[in-house]
Amino acid sequence: MSAAALEAPRIEFPPMKEAPALARWLGLAPRFDIMATLERGPLCYTRLLGKRIYFVNDAEFVKRILLDNAANYPKSVTYRNNLRPFLGDGLLVSEGEFWRRQRRLMQPAFHLRRLRALADTMAGCAAAAAARWSHATIVDVMAQMNAVTMEIVAKTLFGADVSADIAEVADAMAVLQEETGRVRLRAFFELPEFLVRPRGREFRRAVATLDRIVARIVCERRAAAARGEPPREDLLAMLIEAKDADTGDAMTDRQLRDELVTLFLAGHETTAIALTWTFHLLAQHPEAEAKLHAELDAVLGERAAPAFDDLERLPYARMVAEETMRLYPPAYVFSRRALAEDRLGPYRMPAGAHIVISPYALHRRPDYWPEPEAFRPERFAPGEERARPRYAYLPFGGGPRVCIGNAFAMMEHAIVLCAIARRWRLEAIPGREVATEPRITLRPRGGLPMRVVARRA
Ligand code: HEM
Repeated sequence: MSAAALEAPRIEFPPMKEAPALARWLGLAPRFDIMATLERGPLCYTRLLGKRIYFVNDAEFVKRILLDNAANYPKSVTYRNNLRPFLGDGLLVSEGEFWRRQRRLMQPAFHLRRLRALADTMAGCAAAAAARWSHATIVDVMAQMNAVTMEIVAKTLFGADVSADIAEVADAMAVLQEETGRVRLRAFFELPEFLVRPRGREFRRAVATLDRIVARIVCERRAAAARGEPPREDLLAMLIEAKDADTGDAMTDRQLRDELVTLFLAGHETTAIALTWTFHLLAQHPEAEAKLHAELDAVLGERAAPAFDDLERLPYARMVAEETMRLYPPAYVFSRRALAEDRLGPYRMPAGAHIVISPYALHRRPDYWPEPEAFRPERFAPGEERARPRYAYLPFGGGPRVCIGNAFAMMEHAIVLCAIARRWRLEAIPGREVATEPRITLRPRGGLPMRVVARRA
């Protein structure tokens, strides 16, 4: 380590605007204005009860953390505290050799040629959702998108086996999402698991419900395989069949359970949020909306939703999704821990630091994104990415821990967007302010009611 390494500037721990004055005065305002803090940079830190929390807002520094020196930066303790109580050792939380093995086992299920088999299921769910709406009604787009992505992930993971349980699974997921969606002070500290584990009865019941349903489906599948029935086309079938290339081992029931619940959680709310912000932005930008309509009318004709082979002929739909996730990345922060001391550009990164990386902040840096507040899907036209550093755009993270569901999510976004936009326009409710709610994900505060207007009968 060179002696010339600089200390990153320290910033005061900024209390949140709406914290009560007495709490601020006593220094008891642990919820801080995260959005304002994230956009400082390129590197700064604050102290939280003696712990250093670094905010990194520079594409090169982020590349070093996520890719070039990734082995030095495992996931932070917040993953274990927030997610492990019900995701167990699923891919989002696990580390080291165990993670590497699971990732290798699961990766083939997400290859494009396997995803092709899931496109029709996605299109069916999307078209059915679009068919349920009526002209001149108000819908909560966030709730609607949550329902359709939940159905898609349930059916693509478990096939028909889950149809009878969807309502029960959705209720359990809503409880878990609510519980784990909160940013809590204790999540930043290495505490024994029993101290951070949510203890509410509702939480325990929701975990038990998911465990019971997943165990039943896995058991039925194993029995069907033992009877010699041909394997299905869903993700569960692929995960059950997957064998480690070196040892030939398949996953145990416990590993399957953790991975399935992880895919279930990671796989629906994020895509629902991206779709929700897309409809919000299209309503604000009629010229982009008109371009999208022209593209999908030309490609779809009278069909209710795109098929897999249509997707490459819908480039503007993809550009709209990418630009939406630039302005509103659903996973707007994620975090790491520095094992050993390291150097980021001129700065020292001390061992043990908690590191916050924010796609939201990187996506709004004016030197990477001219006029960053403007919604311009053309930024994602082919070749445009050469104008900015690769790690300036991170809706799906980067490096070895990049989102495994990236292609799945992009395909799902295009299919749902096109199925809905083919029939309906969504208009903003006049006078209703739309704000972000920064929790674990970046949702619109209070949902997103919009007015449904028919484009065609
Ligand atoms: C728009 C939708 C989505 C967004 C914005 C998103 C975002 C992300 C991000 C940022 C990470 C990295 C987190 C980190 O490095 O700390 C991640 C990881 C992950 N995502 Fe997604 N995701 C989306 C959709 C999906 C879908 C559809 C699935 C599965 C069906 C999925 C499954 C996962 C899993 C399992 C991981 C952990 C991967 C690993 O560590 O090996 N995600 N996602």
